[in-house]
Amino acid sequence: MEITVVEGDVTEIETEVLIVNLFEAVDAPAGATGAVDSAIGGLITELISDGEITGAASASVLIHTPNSAYPKFKPSRVLVVGLGSEESFDLNVARRVSAAVIRRLRTSGVKNAATIVHGAGIGGIDRAAGAQALAEGSLLGSYRFNKYKKADPKRRDNIETLTVIEHDSSKMSAIYAGVEKGIVYSQADTLARDLVNEPANKLSPSDLAAVAERVAADGGISCVVLGESDVSKLGMGAYVGVAQGSDRPLKFIHMSYEGDPGNEENNLWLVGKGITFDSGGISLKPGAGMGKMKGDMGGGASVIGAMQAISRLKPNLNVHAVCAATDNMPGAAAQRPGDVVTAMNGTTIEVDNTDAEGRLTLADAIGYALSKGAVRIVDVATLTGAARVALGDGVSPVFGNDDELVGAVLEASNSVGESMWRLPLDPVTKRQNSSRIADLKNTGGRGGGSTTAAHFIADFAGETPWVHIDIAATSMLDSTRGWTPAGATGVPTRSLIELAMTLGE
Ligand code: BES
Ligand code: MN
Ligand code: ZN
Repeated sequence: MEITVVEGDVTEIETEVLIVNLFEAVDAPAGATGAVDSAIGGLITELISDGEITGAASASVLIHTPNSAYPKFKPSRVLVVGLGSEESFDLNVARRVSAAVIRRLRTSGVKNAATIVHGAGIGGIDRAAGAQALAEGSLLGSYRFNKYKKADPKRRDNIETLTVIEHDSSKMSAIYAGVEKGIVYSQADTLARDLVNEPANKLSPSDLAAVAERVAADGGISCVVLGESDVSKLGMGAYVGVAQGSDRPLKFIHMSYEGDPGNEENNLWLVGKGITFDSGGISLKPGAGMGKMKGDMGGGASVIGAMQAISRLKPNLNVHAVCAATDNMPGAAAQRPGDVVTAMNGTTIEVDNTDAEGRLTLADAIGYALSKGAVRIVDVATLTGAARVALGDGVSPVFGNDDELVGAVLEASNSVGESMWRLPLDPVTKRQNSSRIADLKNTGGRGGGSTTAAHFIADFAGETPWVHIDIAATSMLDSTRGWTPAGATGVPTRSLIELAMTLGE
């Protein structure tokens, strides 16, 4: 889908469908919707008083306006979409409404449509932000992963062009900028979704590294990929221990964007868990639902996606992305429960359960970031099933050792509509990670499973400002929700981009 912006009058645009909107409890539409209403003889007002158009969020009514009946009105159809109540309107409603509209148009076989920016009038939202939300909702809401399905003539394709129309020339530059930003954010999010949806036989650690290299080359940033002998030399015993059960070689990915050259300490390190398939290893997972573990590189996908956007949007800080990619397999050389491994920073770890592999790889990825001078670290990981128990699949738990960085992450997540909530790193739960024979144990026993995993990682971050986002429950959805079709969500790619943009303002 291509999104363009034009200046013009809504009654004069040649389009298959013109999308306008209405808040709940409005009986005389104003603005663009009012202009359309007058041009078609008050039909919208009539449908409101008949109770057919209610303004309920995402509910839409299609009105046919053929040229024979309305010679002075150019659009062939008008779709009036509800924005819900004025008080509850925000950018998330704008994203959801845009997604619902675009899917409805797809079902009707529409190819080209024009739309106004939702809520910028009486909704009172900033035009650039509203235009960004419109682009994101439309692009992300119509996302599909069809590449392994044969062509189906019954399947309706997405619309081809969406034209954003605005009559006030003074608003054009804001709308243009918002749409452009929305496209960049959405493409990054889409890349992350594609990687998570990709089956493990098609996406090995080497394949993931190749994607990172391509993203880096396209964005003019650097990418270094280390292999087994490199990371062994660096002492990454925790990471290597996880990788040794698989025949597919590990790949340690490090992308860097230089947005503040000469000020290397002005940096942000994004660390993504990159398990390209998590069988559990010798502590094998049960069979049911194991296929979902193709998505255990969702953290890595989000940091690679974010780097794509960052390379295009160019914030004024140095951003690094690290992903210690590997499978977690029960091959003959696999590590065993009870093994003790030594992480890059010298900490010894008793591997109580080989299925708690994410924290082992993160320990060394964070050790690497610190060895390179990281001053802020944000890690993203499909880390614990307990995240779903704690907060469900709509909210990602967040942990951290620095109120300012946690606050910045939460603020970024809030403005892009990727819900997160901070949980505490309490000293009582921390003790559950202690081992009788090593410095740490990779499991924390009963209770607080997301917290013990976070405490484990916290130990490697040390005093450096660090935030951990557990996306185990939020990176894939079983059914469509708002602008997120069933399958990979891309969470928290847009939060990471937003964070880098605000830190690098
Ligand atoms: N990748 C899983 C976590 C996960 C579970 C992600 C469900 C997405 C959906 C992780 O490696 C894992 O296996 N965690 C274990 C830890 C346990 C062994 C301490 C878990 O959560 O059960
Ligand atoms: Mn696991
Ligand atoms: Zn895992």
